[in-house]
Amino acid sequence: MDERIVTGQLQEEESSVELSLRPTTLNQYIGQDKVKENLSIFIQAAKMRNEPLDHVLLYGPPGLGKTTLAAIIANEMGVEFRSTSGPAIDRAGDLAAILTSLEAGDVLFIDEVHRLPRSVEEVLYSAMEDFFIDIVIGQGPSARSVRIDLPPFTLVGATTRAGLLSAPLRDRFGVLSRLEYYETKDLCAIVERTADIFDTNISKEAAGEVARRSRGTPRIANRLLRRIRDISQVKGEKEISFETTEVALQMLQVDDAGLDHIDHKLIKGIIEGFQGGPVGLDTIAATIGEEAQTIEDVYEPYLLQIGFIQRTPRGRVVTPKAYQHFGMKVNDEK
Ligand code: ADE
Repeated sequence: MDERIVTGQLQEEESSVELSLRPTTLNQYIGQDKVKENLSIFIQAAKMRNEPLDHVLLYGPPGLGKTTLAAIIANEMGVEFRSTSGPAIDRAGDLAAILTSLEAGDVLFIDEVHRLPRSVEEVLYSAMEDFFIDIVIGQGPSARSVRIDLPPFTLVGATTRAGLLSAPLRDRFGVLSRLEYYETKDLCAIVERTADIFDTNISKEAAGEVARRSRGTPRIANRLLRRIRDISQVKGEKEISFETTEVALQMLQVDDAGLDHIDHKLIKGIIEGFQGGPVGLDTIAATIGEEAQTIEDVYEPYLLQIGFIQRTPRGRVVTPKAYQHFGMKVNDEK
């Protein structure tokens, strides 16, 4: 996969920086008002009843704060936060080991929950519904099934799309919350908050520009801010200026709409290779050398949101708005 500064995906080396930026309470968490409002009520009610919170599924594009929210849920409930991911759990026994080590009320966070192997997922059904698991001990004729009771716990699952989950798993979540791309004003507040944590001054205009060009995604906003801060610091600025921000974003190959070279490759690939579409996802994937699933989950959602591409029954189509962005006419394929 191409290196991408505006990828929503978490990069290995930045995870510790990112951890230090994470809000720890719902009050500190900026944006996603509807999700916060709902969670706040469910958390209060569960605490009043002295029960664990119902299982929560958080879904939406990468980089919008699903892991952060999961940790906030644990913190607000006053319980431990345990974190793993679908692909990390190979065998049912691995999941059983995690489940039996939980304390009553704990939050177990499973990122990319749609990628749990089926045999592992099946163990989750009874665990989520009735807090027990059946483990098969031994093999062949002497194999027997042992029931193990679990402490009541809250599963918080995260996925890029709820539709990727099997129906039986999806049905076992009591709370389904969809995270949306952030509004610019919320991203601006996040950029200012992060600058504050970095002990860095940033002008209102500069923060607004970073926010506007961050594809609705806090992870991207914070990543761009770090790079812009470097450039501003080397220039000897006391405060990150709008001018430096513009120059820095140009250096980072982030265009005026916040799109980067992969977005360009995707859109121009459809325009130049397929007269703007319609063209099937797999064909696009093969043409630009990215995985279809990655295009669908990571690159495409924002382009759909801003109306640069559309999904039709016959495939993806580039819109006149996107042509205009690239200074091209709809019939002008070059
Ligand atoms: N940093 C990253 N995302 C954030 C959010 N939603 N609220 C506050 N700070 C953040």
